[in-house]
Amino acid sequence: MTAIIETSGLTKVFGSNGAAVHALRGIDLRVDRGEFVALIGPSGSGKSTLMAILGCLDKPSAGTYALDGRRVENLSGRELAEIRNEKVGFVFQQYNLLPKASVVRNVELPMLYAGVGRKERRRRAQEMLERVGIPEKAKVLPAALSGGQRQRVAIARALANQPALLLADEPTGALDQKTGHEVLDLFRDLHRQGNTIIIVTHDLSIAATAQRQVEIMDGLINVEAAA
Ligand SMILES: Nc1ncnc2c1ncn2[C@@H]1O[C@H](COP(=O)(O)OP(=O)(O)O)[C@@H](O)[C@H]1O
Ligand SMILES: [Mg+2]
Repeated sequence: MTAIIETSGLTKVFGSNGAAVHALRGIDLRVDRGEFVALIGPSGSGKSTLMAILGCLDKPSAGTYALDGRRVENLSGRELAEIRNEKVGFVFQQYNLLPKASVVRNVELPMLYAGVGRKERRRRAQEMLERVGIPEKAKVLPAALSGGQRQRVAIARALANQPALLLADEPTGALDQKTGHEVLDLFRDLHRQGNTIIIVTHDLSIAATAQRQVEIMDGLINVEAAA
């Protein structure tokens, strides 16, 4: 098995001294290529903090992190941004689409940063929109879409650079249950097609459909739950 994620003793402290918040207190996590993991745990337990570090959006205070075989815990902000764009697709609860850009432009954006040419960008963006089931929405603005459709655009964008790792932090949190389960079905399809996925969810029926559940409690992995 190839590890996509391997962390050892990851900690994250926000603030300092009297005001310090120890959001992560020593996370050892390994995720192999092709896994589908659900990250669960109470509000405030450190899930989003961990996802931000795994997605190279933030750096740990201490510990090591190898992403797809490369140590990243000590990279500069710029190097981290490069790795993130190349290796990680991130899906957020609130979609984070650019409101003034058409759907297809939103999907093209990570490829623009990666230096993919205009024609190839458009071709791949259209292909991703087909994969998430909304090819006919390419030209509209995000405001014209339902929540579920917006999340599909965000997923297409996350897939644009064929990332080694797809991270989704409560991707169904803003959707009604039926739409949430449809979006989850899409993640399951993407998993079957070979993608490595970590999804944060409060919905235990969603977590139950993942291959493996990892529970975070107070900044640590709950080892009993994992066993
Ligand atoms: N930027 C930040 N500054 C200060 N504290 C933060 C910051 N981000 C998160 N925290 C704190 O870290 C802890 C974990 O938060 P978070 O990772 O968002 O939890 P979860 O996603 O599991 O709800 C919480 O106590 C939260 O208040
Ligand atoms: Mg969170």
